[in-house]
Amino acid sequence: MIATPNDPILAIENVGKAFGALKVLTDVNLTVNAGEFVGLIGPNGAGKTTLFNVVTGFLTPSHGKISFAGGDITHAKPHQRVRAGIVRTFQKSMVFPDLTVLENLALAIRALEHGYGWWRSAKQIALADAQALDVLGRVGMQSHAYKAVSSLSYGEQRIVDVLVSLAMKPRMLLLDEPTAGLSKAEGDHLIEVIRATGTGTSIILVAHDLDIVFSVCDRVAVLDLGKMIACDTPAAIRAHEGAQAAYLGKNKEVSA
Ligand SMILES: Nc1ncnc2c1ncn2[C@@H]1O[C@H](COP(=O)(O)OP(=O)(O)O)[C@@H](O)[C@H]1O
Ligand SMILES: [Mg+2]
Repeated sequence: MIATPNDPILAIENVGKAFGALKVLTDVNLTVNAGEFVGLIGPNGAGKTTLFNVVTGFLTPSHGKISFAGGDITHAKPHQRVRAGIVRTFQKSMVFPDLTVLENLALAIRALEHGYGWWRSAKQIALADAQALDVLGRVGMQSHAYKAVSSLSYGEQRIVDVLVSLAMKPRMLLLDEPTAGLSKAEGDHLIEVIRATGTGTSIILVAHDLDIVFSVCDRVAVLDLGKMIACDTPAAIRAHEGAQAAYLGKNKEVSA
């Protein structure tokens, strides 16, 4: 099936997931349009990471359907979903810590653009390096190009994670708490990098910093106890009583 421009890139329909008797997701519905930036919020244990696992194929839903770019991917394997353009970041970094920032980025670019034959051509290697330098320049990280990733600060390493994920030119990027453990300034910088380099990519962002979520996202989805209790514009979610009761109020208490 071929998607038309008006179809959502991702459609999650009535998805449920249970672990034994524990219902972690109940009839979850969510659609994401091409290029849309969606925030996913909810208390710890609400099922946000489980939803990402179901979308990326690490878990099979107990029921329901997931479509991507017009095709049914409910039972597709994780690598097939990556090939279709769904990329996620993990809490644990997926980059090579002993390689330089430039090498990590250039590897991702070469793997995408030249497949398995990339190492044969010095020209292609130079081209990938130039592209990687260009990306680093755009986010003000040229001076880190030749440093090993392991020598960077934690916040800078999280930026490299995101840059490497985006170098794979995903159609959809799932970010699970990318700002966890970062200072406010580092978190804001990371989000700026995502906005500057992720143009055109559909994004779902899980984050606990509501200022970030409300300021960058086109729509915000609220999960509570495995149920999607609201999905609307940031302004509407701020005013949504159910969302406030489930999360916004609690979050204020936590951060107070
Ligand atoms: N593999 C699993 N087996 C059993 N329970 C799980 C498993 N993964 C997650 N859970 C449970 O599912 C619920 C939702 O977890 P999770 O999706 O990690 O929430 P969130 O990311 O919103 O904090 C929690 O109660 C968690 O303990
Ligand atoms: Mg989680």
